[in-house]
Amino acid sequence: MAPHASIVGPFPPGADRVQYDRLRRRVLWRLTTGLYLFGTRAGARRNLMTCSLVTQLATDPKLVGVSVERAATSLALAREGGGFALTLVDRADRAVVRTFAKPAVEDVPARTLSGRAYEDAPVTGAPVLAGAAAYLDCRLEREVDLGSHVLCVGEVVDAGFGGAGEDVAVLRSEDTRMSYGG
Ligand SMILES: Cc1cc2nc3c(=O)[nH]c(=O)nc-3n(C[C@H](O)[C@H](O)[C@H](O)COP(=O)(O)O)c2cc1C
Repeated sequence: MAPHASIVGPFPPGADRVQYDRLRRRVLWRLTTGLYLFGTRAGARRNLMTCSLVTQLATDPKLVGVSVERAATSLALAREGGGFALTLVDRADRAVVRTFAKPAVEDVPARTLSGRAYEDAPVTGAPVLAGAAAYLDCRLEREVDLGSHVLCVGEVVDAGFGGAGEDVAVLRSEDTRMSYGG
């Protein structure tokens, strides 16, 4: 493979491609984002995945978008299950970001994923982390192929706050030292 073959264009005219790639990545990392868990379920199989590429897309209908790596287990589960649940994470619970940056280990009798208790979202049945600040339960409305990622467009079919109510602060990317994307 040619050196730096994986550096993605386009490039400004005359730019040093390697330096520009590093600069562009640092700028992209500054986009302000939240940190969420993308909960998916196909039958008895559940997963929770850390995600930051999440935003509301429309107000009528109520659409949210989550951009998911095309090879992620979560994408296959969302397709099979026809939906997903987004956990809005309590800011005090930032350790979950690392826990769910790899495929979750499910313990069906204990009802845990990677040692953390979950609840099933009311409509799709996809998992929501117990102790979540809030959740959005979404029917998979469509997919948009974006290359490295697939945008999962979900229509919100149920939403709610966790037991602590509306005053809980929600986790954001700047609360951790981890970067994604770029
Ligand atoms: C801070 C952070 C943010 C992430 N955001 C996303 C994201 O928005 N979309 C995505 O597909 N993967 C994201 N990931 C990577 C996934 O969490 C990770 O690749 C996961 O293991 C893949 O999910 P899977 O268990 O479904 O295969 C992120 C990871 C970290 C650490």
